Amino acid sequence: MFGRSRPTAPDPAAEPSTAPATATAPARGPGAQPSTAHPAGSAAGAGAAAEPSTAPAAVTLRSVSKRYGRGDATVHALRGVDIALPGGSFTAVMGPSGSGKSTFLQCAAGLDRPTSGSVLLGDTDLTRLRENALTDVRLTRIGFVFQSFNLLPALTVHQNVLLPLKLAKRRARPERAEELLTRVGLPGIGRRRPAELSGGQQQRVAIARALVTDPDVVFADEPTGALDTTSAAEVLALLREAVDDLGATVVMVTHEPAAAGWADLALFLVDGVIVDRLAEVEPERVADRIRHLTTAAARARTGQVR
Ligand SMILES: Nc1ncnc2c1ncn2[C@@H]1O[C@H](COP(=O)(O)OP(=O)(O)OP(=O)(O)O)[C@@H](O)[C@H]1O
Ligand SMILES: [Mg+2]
Repeated sequence: MFGRSRPTAPDPAAEPSTAPATATAPARGPGAQPSTAHPAGSAAGAGAAAEPSTAPAAVTLRSVSKRYGRGDATVHALRGVDIALPGGSFTAVMGPSGSGKSTFLQCAAGLDRPTSGSVLLGDTDLTRLRENALTDVRLTRIGFVFQSFNLLPALTVHQNVLLPLKLAKRRARPERAEELLTRVGLPGIGRRRPAELSGGQQQRVAIARALVTDPDVVFADEPTGALDTTSAAEVLALLREAVDDLGATVVMVTHEPAAAGWADLALFLVDGVIVDRLAEVEPERVADRIRHLTTAAARARTGQVR
């Protein structure tokens, strides 16, 4: 277990709102916990006393659908997803395998284009941008963290961290890399290559790289999927800190209820539809919900086959 229970804002699903549904921004307070210590059970968790606030949406999906293939082979990976995630929030995207989580993330992050609908990063409609402009947005306003770290083996750690700045033709000072490496608890390793690091260390370097441009949003697809429990907790604590200390917005796909426990909001996808959301992201409740949804999805599939 590497999750924690955090008192959170009221369930946004309960609010009457016009589509897309707007998640409520997490409340901030002196109780925010950037440490990697296991925080489960801490009643004085982040923002317990503060008023919930509504922040402008950092990411908005409007009627987003994504189809792969055609004819009989068509797969409806997303079916009309509507959601707005406020700036400075940490969202966990959950659901059974094949439910569309990675597709959701890729469309939201501008890595893939939806078949229909629109995706906004702040006020910027990514679906209307030409490829060059979209690449620029991805390099400068979005950070990515992947399950398999995706560091470039031929580059040093410093070069890996500075890569988004280099590609965006921005100033890439070594001090900036060191500043980020210190933030993720790895000062002084800039001259090493990724192969000389443990998996947990590589993922922390990947987080440093994701944060180097001060992005509006960090998208993470199963960032703890390849890590042991301790390294996973360190990575989740860093993502939490990016939200609490740097004001970033984090959207993370995960299978792990314990990982979702670090988020402010959990979204549940089944067959390309957001079927549920939890604003009080307690690992036990998340696990219950996932069990229920997975069983229901399996039953529905069996029913279709019969
Ligand atoms: N490039 C593609 N071409 C065709 N079908 C695809 C493609 N990518 C995803 N799919 C299909 O879209 C659906 C959703 O896939 P997606 O990868 O988003 O699921 P997921 O929830 O991330 O699953 P997992 O938990 O296993 O990673 C699946 O049925 C998948 O087979
Ligand atoms: Mg996936």
